[in-house]
Amino acid sequence: MLSLEGKVALITGFGQSEPEGWGIGSAIAVLFARQGAKIFGGNRTLASAELTKSRIEAEGGICDIMVGDVTDSASMKALVDACFSKYGKIDILVNNVGHSEPGCPATMPEDVWDKQMNVNVKAVYLSCRYVLPIMEKQETGGSIISIASIAGLRYIGKPQVGYSAAKAAILQFTKATAIIYASKGVRLNTVVPGLIATPYSNAMAKRYAPDWKLDEYLAMRNAQVPMGRMGDAWDVANSALFLASDEAKYITGQKIVVDGGITSSTGRPF
Ligand SMILES: NC(=O)c1ccc[n+]([C@@H]2O[C@H](COP(=O)([O-])OP(=O)(O)OC[C@H]3O[C@@H](n4cnc5c(N)ncnc54)[C@H](OP(=O)(O)O)[C@@H]3O)[C@@H](O)[C@H]2O)c1
Repeated sequence: MLSLEGKVALITGFGQSEPEGWGIGSAIAVLFARQGAKIFGGNRTLASAELTKSRIEAEGGICDIMVGDVTDSASMKALVDACFSKYGKIDILVNNVGHSEPGCPATMPEDVWDKQMNVNVKAVYLSCRYVLPIMEKQETGGSIISIASIAGLRYIGKPQVGYSAAKAAILQFTKATAIIYASKGVRLNTVVPGLIATPYSNAMAKRYAPDWKLDEYLAMRNAQVPMGRMGDAWDVANSALFLASDEAKYITGQKIVVDGGITSSTGRPF
């Protein structure tokens, strides 16, 4: 079950923003390698990609890394070309990069809005632009998984209008592209994390609640979840694994929400 033996997985946002703990991209990469995939990782900086590579190789997995900025077309083409020229195929693409900046339309400067669109949604377009022509020629097709956010489904308590709009766009981009490619053997789906405890969420605390102590901020996030706690990177990685695997071969254009119940609740006690 859920074997990725013989498959090649290209993953963007391969590192994690802080060395401690587990980022989502790093957990996905390690889990996919454990299931037998050969991993090709792209990241803005090589330093944080090295961490994930060393985790994979410590368990005997196979991993290459290179610089790949998801907002830069030439950089993404070079990343895809490098993976394809090494293995002659790409079975799985994971679009993991995402970044949130605070603001509503009146307070978010235009350049920040543009960067939010680029890093969150144009990034998915660019990687698909280069990977889809490869996958559609493969007899076994391919599986593309993009990491969205419940901020693309709901207002989640803080103004981050660029991030919310971009993550919602990923959901519709995925549905529309999934239909276009359904008859070509390429599946596209999203994993939609809720509040997940990662190095990224610690960094967010500094941006969104600079006056709070980190443990108070994390306790507040735990209390927002019907299950009483944030998820972790493995909760997201396990869903990505299912969507990447042949067990999900009849699933396309869908999302798996991994949120401990948040989006099924009004958030108010009665
Ligand atoms: N954590 C949560 O609570 C949560 C909730 C919902 C959704 N998500 C989503 O989950 C995804 C991953 O989160 P994560 O915890 O793995 O994040 P992360 O720890 O910030 O890791 C993402 C990696 O992406 C890299 N990166 C940033 N900008 C890049 C660019 N332009 N091109 C290439 N790489 C770039 C970073 O590189 P550097 O190391 O060089 O900075 C970092 O290593 C994101 O899409 C996020 O929006 C997270």
